[in-house]
Amino acid sequence: MEDNEFQENISTAELVASLSRALDLTEGEPMGHAIRACWIGMSVGQALGLPQKERGELYYALLLKDAGCTANAQQVSNWFGTDDRTAKYALKTVNWSNLWQATRYAVGQARPGAPWRQRMQQIVSIGKRGPKAARELVAMRCTRGADIVRQLGWVDVAPQAVLNLDEHWDGSGQPKGLRGHAIPILGRILGLAQTVEIFWNRSGPSAAIEVVCNRRGTWFDPELVDIFLSLADGPGFWEQLSQVESPQAIAQIDPSPTTISLDSMEQLLHIARVFGEVVDAKTSWTAMHSVRTALYASNLAKILGWDERSQQETLLAGFFHDLGKLGVSNLILDKPGPLDAEERQAIERHPELTYHILEPLKPLREIARIAASHHERLDGTGYHHHWSGNQIPAGGRVVAVADVYDALAHARPYRRQLNTDEVLEIMGQEKGAKLWNDAMEALLWGLRETPDLFQLSDPID
Ligand SMILES: [Fe+2]
Ligand SMILES: [Fe+2]
Repeated sequence: MEDNEFQENISTAELVASLSRALDLTEGEPMGHAIRACWIGMSVGQALGLPQKERGELYYALLLKDAGCTANAQQVSNWFGTDDRTAKYALKTVNWSNLWQATRYAVGQARPGAPWRQRMQQIVSIGKRGPKAARELVAMRCTRGADIVRQLGWVDVAPQAVLNLDEHWDGSGQPKGLRGHAIPILGRILGLAQTVEIFWNRSGPSAAIEVVCNRRGTWFDPELVDIFLSLADGPGFWEQLSQVESPQAIAQIDPSPTTISLDSMEQLLHIARVFGEVVDAKTSWTAMHSVRTALYASNLAKILGWDERSQQETLLAGFFHDLGKLGVSNLILDKPGPLDAEERQAIERHPELTYHILEPLKPLREIARIAASHHERLDGTGYHHHWSGNQIPAGGRVVAVADVYDALAHARPYRRQLNTDEVLEIMGQEKGAKLWNDAMEALLWGLRETPDLFQLSDPID
């Protein structure tokens, strides 16, 4: 690793905006959705004359509005028997306060492509659970989202905004059915901004204007709609929006820019861990997997005698390693049997997605390379680059051993949990051939000398 790699700081806005692209994936949206929703919402906030402090909170609430996205991904997939991302994507354009539209949506999403009898069973099961279950799904997502925003350090009005983004002006929203000014103003802006971005991105400016006008006074605060319409009518609004894509672009409008020190790494590691937990929550099968993998990997680095900075880098890469899984359907992650070729291809994209999510963060390029190489194998049979031997960064070879160890030690939908002897027998067959000999030796030593460090149970403090 280059000596000067961590001499610089990193912009908080660029970091959060980059990671917001991972949340977009889970919501079934193209990367950049939250970034553009942020630009729209900030334009409205500015025109409304919000004070700077509130705009600072609004900015991060907009970027992190979907932080709770994984809290209900498995349930959504189960409920509809379909890809959670497709179901969520389709839901965005539905007026779910309207019973007819909600029913049509449910019928459309129920196990598409399955024989009619199975589809009917799914529709009956959706109907039985009804609006109460829908409310619970929204509540899980909003409550968890607000918690995550709080954990990340925004303790004032930003969590309230995320908690209330699906409430509607006329009381028909979720999870509490708040009405009018009882819905916090930032929550009202989030709801409007996300809808505008979605309709604009799918069908252009006129579709965005039409939906906002149609829902003026029902979903949306009429005063905010009027402000938005006058902005949208102004010169260059849509052209500017179409140019907002990168984390760097949205970082330019952070009302109170801050940086995160890469010297102590403490704050960065905290944020990375929170996002690792977001990934781990996508399916109950991987609960705390990223956190354990990160801790095991840094323990291995320590045993290998790496310096403290390298241990921290390994920890960081471990928290981030499966970020790309946010872009994989729960139908695949939760499948109780072998994957077909197409499903395998979809899951094997996740390290590449991990790299794309982190790529805009120049000071973290090496971390991105380490995190994204955890499925590479020494003999070149891994993915996604098919690197071999020393082409794989040493940190990646260490994270790979920690990742396999933790995965085998926990149940998966297609196999039972294995005990340590069984895990080591399987890993032993790959030692030196696929998995790095040094890291394997470190694991064997660690299990013998400090077993508690390699047998963490949930929850982990
Ligand atoms: Fe992975
Ligand atoms: Fe993993």
